[in-house]
Amino acid sequence: MSEIVLNVPEDLVVYCNRLKLGQVLINIIVNAAQVIKSQERSKKGCITISADNEGAYINIYVTDDGPGIPQKNLNKIFDPFFTTKEAGQGTGLGLSISYDIITTSHGGMLLVNSEVGIGTTFTIKLPNITERIE
Ligand SMILES: Nc1ncnc2c1ncn2[C@@H]1O[C@H](COP(=O)(O)OP(=O)(O)O)[C@@H](O)[C@H]1O
Ligand SMILES: [Mg+2]
Repeated sequence: MSEIVLNVPEDLVVYCNRLKLGQVLINIIVNAAQVIKSQERSKKGCITISADNEGAYINIYVTDDGPGIPQKNLNKIFDPFFTTKEAGQGTGLGLSISYDIITTSHGGMLLVNSEVGIGTTFTIKLPNITERIE
């Protein structure tokens, strides 16, 4: 079990492909919920979604207090078909598709920070443009 905490300013506007950004957020949130569930811990986990305007970029942060990602895997998680889940559980495609959506379709960046035993933060950086994109 996890709870989701939303901490997003009401007046923050980001121009994006809404369906694609939604897909990225779902991928990242489901990953966090799955790893927390796999910990079989007694207290529920916490997934926090926050956002800010940095000027050149709108940043969206998804932070979890799950197991973290070992250093040796950190540079592999965006690779197609990389998964640590059991066969049949994960396709290993969620983060590679997300990376493509953020970088290729939006000209942004998808970053990860993680500490084993503490948790993980994914940062989505979207160019702070003021015109619609397709
Ligand atoms: N929040 C997270 N905490 C720990 N590990 C994660 C997290 N998000 C992703 N991962 C790791 O990245 C891998 C790849 O994720 P993803 O591309 O979504 O594929 P899948 O979910 O099918 O395994 C996962 O198998 C897991 O090892
Ligand atoms: Mg996934």
